[in-house]
Amino acid sequence: MKALVEILRTTAFGCRKTSISYGERAGNALCLAAAAFLFAGSAWGAKSQAPKPPLSAPTSAAACVGCHGEAGVSANSLWPNLAGQKRDYLAKQLKAFRDQDRVDPMMNAIAQSLSDSDIEALTAYYSSLKP
Ligand code: HEC
Repeated sequence: MKALVEILRTTAFGCRKTSISYGERAGNALCLAAAAFLFAGSAWGAKSQAPKPPLSAPTSAAACVGCHGEAGVSANSLWPNLAGQKRDYLAKQLKAFRDQDRVDPMMNAIAQSLSDSDIEALTAYYSSLKP
């Protein structure tokens, strides 16, 4: 906010100077248009650089945190990280565990209880996390 006030103050000063050379009205109009343009540009820039808000964990993720970690980063070298992994890949693995096409006693048991919509929510969530 302080920076914004500073920009407006300096722009207004610039406007007064410009109006001397271009005539009061034309100078002011030109200056305000330029200031509005700059301001809109900086607001747009700030918005496009803001990080996306993280997805909140689906309730089904409560069954995963014990092994894959609170934020999808596991504390055990035999348990894979899920954070930031590709969404379609995660979904394919979960379905493979559920169908017993991929064999791991823990994951086979856990995946049994996951519906397709659970898998959709879980994979959207884990793929959105920072690895
Ligand atoms: C008891 C521990 C445990 C729990 C709880 C658990 N997992 Fe796993 N998970 C594992 C292990 C171990 C592997 C690695 C299996 C292997 O070596 O093939 C794995 C693998 C995976 C993979 C494959 C990752 C890859 O890179 O191929 C996915 C996806 C996954 N788990 C998702 C989940 C989800 C979603 C949940 C919660 C619904 C969950 N897991 C709960 C232990 C667990």
